[in-house]
Amino acid sequence: MKYFIITGTSRGIGESIAEQLVSPDHYLFCISRERNESLVSKNSNITYYEFDLNHIHLIESLMGSIFNSIDVSKAEGIYLINNASMIAPVSFIDTARVDEIMGNINVNLLAPIILTSMFIKHTNGHLIDKRILNISSSSAKNHHPGMSLYSAAKAGLDVFSQCVGLEQNHSKTPVGIVSIWPGMIDTNLQKEARSQDKSTFPSAEIFEVVKDTGMLTTAQETAQQIIEFLFKPNFEHGAVVDIYDYSKLQQHLSI
Ligand SMILES: NC(=O)c1ccc[n+]([C@@H]2O[C@H](COP(=O)([O-])OP(=O)(O)OC[C@H]3O[C@@H](n4cnc5c(N)ncnc54)[C@H](OP(=O)(O)O)[C@@H]3O)[C@@H](O)[C@H]2O)c1
Repeated sequence: MKYFIITGTSRGIGESIAEQLVSPDHYLFCISRERNESLVSKNSNITYYEFDLNHIHLIESLMGSIFNSIDVSKAEGIYLINNASMIAPVSFIDTARVDEIMGNINVNLLAPIILTSMFIKHTNGHLIDKRILNISSSSAKNHHPGMSLYSAAKAGLDVFSQCVGLEQNHSKTPVGIVSIWPGMIDTNLQKEARSQDKSTFPSAEIFEVVKDTGMLTTAQETAQQIIEFLFKPNFEHGAVVDIYDYSKLQQHLSI
């Protein structure tokens, strides 16, 4: 049996990843605040945790409970996909509330860091296939006024993944880790960015253009690319990998 711990499975890319991973040989642990009823109702190999990743102090016991139900020594492989994320608050930093600032960094950076730490701890010493995919964003490099927290968290996640990659090179039973930039995908997150007030988020217009010119990929396509990457023999351990199909962008730019 292969085991998958996936965050942010109530919608968007995370939901598509979970849907595509469903198989009699796979067991999924899905995490989001809202339970994805349609996913659970169709499949028995899923345990769903309605869990708020902003509750940083509870992540350790969440992972304890997940690993209590896995016999790691008998597993064929164990995989963690840190996918959950939020862009709010989309605002200049001086107008963001402290609880909003903390919430963003908690969900986008601290939660994946703690989940990674717990995953490595619980699987330590087991010579099985162990991989972590941190779903990051090109926003780590391409910056917009009003998205400082999201960009800073994703840049942090990239650096964290690279550093943990170096650490795992010292392990006898290493965990593979990669940070992925999935591209531009037609999900709620994009909708939230383009529907902001342009007076407080000038880049809203760019997100509108991206949608209107058909540059967005579907969540299903992106999930398929991410899963292919997860099982790749040469996993590019320790790297930050951009999987967006830039030929798509070229086509639109040349029109
Ligand atoms: N869409 C894009 O163009 C794009 C581009 C680059 C990178 N990405 C990355 O791709 C990943 C998936 O994004 P998406 O576009 O699919 O976003 P999405 O449609 O907004 O979905 C976000 C998921 O994260 C979960 N989540 C948010 N806050 C949470 C919390 N406090 N606790 C637990 N779960 C929480 C949501 O579930 P609940 O609300 O039910 O909790 C939801 O399932 C993210 O890491 C994002 O940064 C997306």
